[in-house]
Amino acid sequence: MDDLRAKYLGLIADAADEAALEDVRLAAIGKKGEVSLAMRQLGRMTPEERQQAGPRLNAMRDEIASALTARKAALSDAALEARLRDEWLDVTLPGRQRPRGTVHPVSQVWEEMTAIFADMGFSVAEGPQIESDWYNFDALNIPDHHPARGEMDTFYMARDAGDNRPPHVLRTHTSPVQIRSMREHGAPLRIICPGRVYRADYDQTHTPMFHQVEGLAVDRDISMANLKWVLEEFFTAFFGREVKTRFRASHFPFTEPSAEVDIQCAWTDGQVRVGEGDDWLEVLGSGMVHPKVLEAGGIDPTQWQGFAFGMGIDRLAMLKYGIPDLRAFFDADLRWLRHYGFAALDVPAVHVG
Ligand code: PHE
Repeated sequence: MDDLRAKYLGLIADAADEAALEDVRLAAIGKKGEVSLAMRQLGRMTPEERQQAGPRLNAMRDEIASALTARKAALSDAALEARLRDEWLDVTLPGRQRPRGTVHPVSQVWEEMTAIFADMGFSVAEGPQIESDWYNFDALNIPDHHPARGEMDTFYMARDAGDNRPPHVLRTHTSPVQIRSMREHGAPLRIICPGRVYRADYDQTHTPMFHQVEGLAVDRDISMANLKWVLEEFFTAFFGREVKTRFRASHFPFTEPSAEVDIQCAWTDGQVRVGEGDDWLEVLGSGMVHPKVLEAGGIDPTQWQGFAFGMGIDRLAMLKYGIPDLRAFFDADLRWLRHYGFAALDVPAVHVG
């Protein structure tokens, strides 16, 4: 019995890990373990022998069991220590920087405008950037050979020799979306269309691609007064201060009457500030939708009338955020983007009364 005790206490002390220890436990006090078998022998002993051997065997069993428990605790403590040592890491080290982009001022202003007009009940419409000349011109009351076609510096899509389909153009304004929306939804209608437009022009204030937002409201009794209110409400929300507007008579083939709209501004030290002073800055074209345009949109001009406007998104971004050169918008210069860009979660700064 002493041999058995010495053997297992030795094996327990030597067990290198919890798996080895489990093997020792099974060999000693498992169902078929040596100690368990020895205890089973008790039944075959005389009562005197049993009285002697029973308590000794029990004591040995208990001693081995508690040695197993103690060793198991020691081994798992040691394993934990080792893990803590191996997996140690310094959580105070600075994190690895991931390059993070910024929201382009055009995207930011696009979102701001959409939010303001949405609050006034306008939904967003879209149209293709490659447009047929019918949508871009004819439907807007700009027939062939009309001087407005020449003035727009239009990009025409190349056609193979002998391909006599009517021409397609890169849309020169967002106004064709007026026609598409009228034909799709009919009247009444209240939409804006932000989007890319193209003209062959390049200097400090012109790039061959730029952005416009078109506005169109058609109903039974829409007037210039509604147009003026909507625009003043828009500019006030967009610039975060009251902005006066000035309507100047103008001409567009697709509106009658037509007006160019200026916003109030001040020039100080070569910087423009909107909403103060007594200078004026032209920002958009507008007017009452021409009856022929309503007709091209499938809307009866004796029953319905509407206003439309178109303004430059990039231009308004420059004014609101003090960005001097339009061309830099499209240079993809990371320093410029970091300087003028917005964080992804910047909420558009707008408030409609
Ligand atoms: N489409 C005109 C332009 O690009 C702007 C405009 C839109 C004018 C709607 C009147 C009405 O210059």
